[in-house]
Amino acid sequence: MQRRALVTGVTGQDGSYLAELLLSKGYEVHGLRRRSSTFGTQRIEHLIFGEKPQLHLHYGDLSDGNGLVRLIREIRPQEVYNLAAQSHVRVSFDQPAYTADVTAVGTLRLLEAIRDVQDDTGEQIRFYQASSSEMYGKVVETPQKETTPFYPRSPYGVAKLYGHWITVNYRESYGLHASCGILFNHESPRRGETFVTRKITRAATRIKLGLQEKLYLGNLDAQRDWGFAGDYVEGMWRMLQQDKPDDYVIATNELYSVREFCEKTFSRLDLDYQDFVEVDPRYYRPAEVDLLLGDSTKARKRLGWKPQTSFDQLVDMMVESDLELASQEKALANRDTARVRRAA
Ligand code: NAP
Ligand code: GDD
Repeated sequence: MQRRALVTGVTGQDGSYLAELLLSKGYEVHGLRRRSSTFGTQRIEHLIFGEKPQLHLHYGDLSDGNGLVRLIREIRPQEVYNLAAQSHVRVSFDQPAYTADVTAVGTLRLLEAIRDVQDDTGEQIRFYQASSSEMYGKVVETPQKETTPFYPRSPYGVAKLYGHWITVNYRESYGLHASCGILFNHESPRRGETFVTRKITRAATRIKLGLQEKLYLGNLDAQRDWGFAGDYVEGMWRMLQQDKPDDYVIATNELYSVREFCEKTFSRLDLDYQDFVEVDPRYYRPAEVDLLLGDSTKARKRLGWKPQTSFDQLVDMMVESDLELASQEKALANRDTARVRRAA
């Protein structure tokens, strides 16, 4: 029987990779998208506008609990992956209540919807919660693993902690097959442009082609454990294939600073980052997370999961893709200049 999955946050970076993975495994895949004044489906266009549209999209929002119940009742998925969130740490300081409503209470709404429908139909719905290494915040041990105490440092981290514990609580209270993936930072050419890695690869490639002069960043000394998003969605899927639900850290177990990411990216383009990168305190956070380094031994042993992409390969992949984007931008700009000259 063909399995059905519902993915919230399907228009985001991870949602797009997860939808591809589930489709490749033969799932019927449904995605929740929120209404916006533009399409907002760039990352999944190849899955919805192909010859044979594969991905089923539904309007919905984590702030609308009744809508979630209706949708789950209609789709009757066997697996639900909750990837939707206000996911930007810096933005969560500007929009703390909104972040709490979507990222924290939104998870509760989805769990309640699943519990309702599961009780009515008697059919099990497995649940994946996108927990985050941001929950470790001001870390109390390094590397961080499943048993490391949490100490969130942002409204986003606090909201994710609520989502994490309410998922654990519903597993223990109601026997839901609910698992949390505590994922460390993961990036890709589809990463949002305001997260630091993509901000760097986008700017460096534009600088290389003369489209931009400087790159302004915040704390260059922050250190992160950066992996490739395409590898990490495999970990999510594996968690829901286990007989018993549990929580797992997914990470590369390697540490680099923002400065090292800059060095690597610019040198890949034969440039010296020091000539172009400037620090702008506007990008500092009221409370910073200095270092996140994961220990994913449990996932490696129990799920048989391990990262397939090295740090260098990740940087190469992002630089290549953004170089292509910058070339297209330059070609468009040249065409417009030629048009203006002809018209003058
Ligand atoms: P992302 O690119 O920012 O995607 C977030 C998704 O959530 C988008 O599809 C967004 O829709 C959707 N969304 C936002 N608010 C919503 C709402 N009120 N109702 C329904 N959907 C809503 O994030 P990502 O990098 O793919 O991350 C996926 C999940 O993993 C997030 O929960 C994130 O917090 C968590 N996480 C990410 C990382 C990481 O390093 N990437 C690490 C740990 C945990 P729009 O497209 O309309 O904005
Ligand atoms: N975004 C951004 N922009 N970050 C900067 C900048 C800048 O100009 N300059 C320095 N940084 C530093 C931040 O202060 C932070 O320490 C680090 O770069 C990484 O920032 P982000 O790429 O924004 O990611 P994040 O670690 O805060 O959060 C991401 O990873 C979490 C998992 O640990 C997000 O994807 C979260 O959703 C995710 O949960």
